[in-house]
Amino acid sequence: MKTKLIAPSLLSADFGNLQRDIEMLNNSQADWLHIDVMDGRFVPNISFGFPVMKTIQQHAKKFVDVHLMIVEPEKYVEEFIDYGADLVSVHYEACTHLHRTINLIQSKGAKAGVVLNPSTPVLMLEDIIADVDLVLLMSVNPGFGGQKFIENTYKKIAETKDLILSNNSTALIEIDGGVNLDNASKLFEAGADVLVAGNAVFSSESPERTIDLLKI
Ligand code: DX5
Ligand code: ZN
Repeated sequence: MKTKLIAPSLLSADFGNLQRDIEMLNNSQADWLHIDVMDGRFVPNISFGFPVMKTIQQHAKKFVDVHLMIVEPEKYVEEFIDYGADLVSVHYEACTHLHRTINLIQSKGAKAGVVLNPSTPVLMLEDIIADVDLVLLMSVNPGFGGQKFIENTYKKIAETKDLILSNNSTALIEIDGGVNLDNASKLFEAGADVLVAGNAVFSSESPERTIDLLKI
């Protein structure tokens, strides 16, 4: 997979015009579509589930990156892959048997990612880093779009990069939360491969132009 990728989060899209917003992203320089699924238990918010995934599957032409903020994600990963997920990321904090869940995702033909909340240390990934395709570092506490970026994330990117190199892992590093035009290039320089952006893209006057600028 190539790096310096932008993954707009559909959480900030206009759900009354979801097809229009997905088509806008299809025609933009966005690389991935980031899909935030929240269950009201793992995080204090509920977003959407399979009916919306079906609409995304019908219209999306980009790589579909599903971020599950749900308890017991192993119960649902296969269905998300059936609905077109190319990559499914599960939270370290939500998986009792993380290795099994990562294997399950990959056995169904999708890429598998592990997500860390801001307070979870990178060293918890030591025994899974060789098996995952992606590490998603939360740079806000998950649950809502439009929050302020947590600066400690830069330190965690460096630690993740070291862990990847020392284990000959091919995992990509994705950053999620509070990414904007002020910090995007700094994050790529620090070692991020994929940046999620919700509010920065969808609340801007020209989402397509903002996606272009996030890559510079
Ligand atoms: C937060 C979600 C993010 C969120 C990012 O729980 O995982 O993907 O939509 O939104 P912004 O870019 O607005 O912080
Ligand atoms: Zn997300």
